[in-house]
Amino acid sequence: MDLMNQSRFGLLPESVSTISPKVDALFWALSAISVFFTVLIFTLLVGLAWRYRRRSDAEVPRPIHGSVPLEIAWSVIPLVISLAVFVGGAVIFFEMKRPPSDTLDVYVVGKQWMWKIQHPEGKREINELHVPRGQNVRLVMSSEDVIHSFFVPAFRIKQDVLPGRYTQTWFNATETGEYHLFCTEYCGTDHAAMIGRVIVMEPEDYQRWLSGVSADETPVQAGERLFAKNACNTCHGGAGGVGPMLAGRWGGQAQLEGGESVKFDENYVRESIVKPMERIAAGYQPVMPTYQGQISEEEIQQIIAYIRSQGAPAPTSSSGVEHDHASH
Ligand code: CUA
Repeated sequence: MDLMNQSRFGLLPESVSTISPKVDALFWALSAISVFFTVLIFTLLVGLAWRYRRRSDAEVPRPIHGSVPLEIAWSVIPLVISLAVFVGGAVIFFEMKRPPSDTLDVYVVGKQWMWKIQHPEGKREINELHVPRGQNVRLVMSSEDVIHSFFVPAFRIKQDVLPGRYTQTWFNATETGEYHLFCTEYCGTDHAAMIGRVIVMEPEDYQRWLSGVSADETPVQAGERLFAKNACNTCHGGAGGVGPMLAGRWGGQAQLEGGESVKFDENYVRESIVKPMERIAAGYQPVMPTYQGQISEEEIQQIIAYIRSQGAPAPTSSSGVEHDHASH
């Protein structure tokens, strides 16, 4: 099901992994037990209070001497129920914690505030995870900074992602579609924006996707897609963002921290993507992560094409020399 069509407001999220029906069954069993005993206890509480209320001020209560069968019943029944809950939970827990041997291993790195994902064939993506349907997928996860948590409600999996240590989880998706991915461990300012999509595809489509055959986009369209896919827009989307706005600046001068300026051109944009710490824009914090190795040179060119398509600075009347000379 497409994310856009998920306007339904269900009690539970969709259930599209091999483990999710089992988790749901356990959830409903626990709920049923809780409801049953809540109703039973409150009914008895009210009923007995009514039945054995004091009827006259002179009434003397009759002493009771206990009941062995009753004592045994209310000890053994809860014991059996809690052992059943334990066994049910443990069986599912072991299944969740022990990936099968025939998994497709995908590497996940959490960082403030994005999910970086790499497929075994080397393909990388950010905030998106493409997987084939009906395949055991193991996620090997680590964090570059603080504790994050990888949560896909539709698969009923949730696993903390820790710095300095690998954690893992696995799933086998049963239906194609797009499903929510959340960070579910508070990790700083943009924790709530650390979200993404898991895209479950038919195995053939996944192979096609892996080989990178995309529809015929222009470089500008590809750049726009990459700008959103790599979450560039979260910082560079407009005025007042964490990073400088990039629209309408092509070919102008970029003021740098320290007073110098540099021409806003291909080289400056490329350097800012792969070595963001080299030259910091005036008035901004050096917080941008490097994308070296995550974005190919071809993709950098497409992003540059997109930024260029967003126009040049409006000529100002004071800089008559600049906007009069013809460059070609
Ligand atoms: Cu990462 Cu919250």
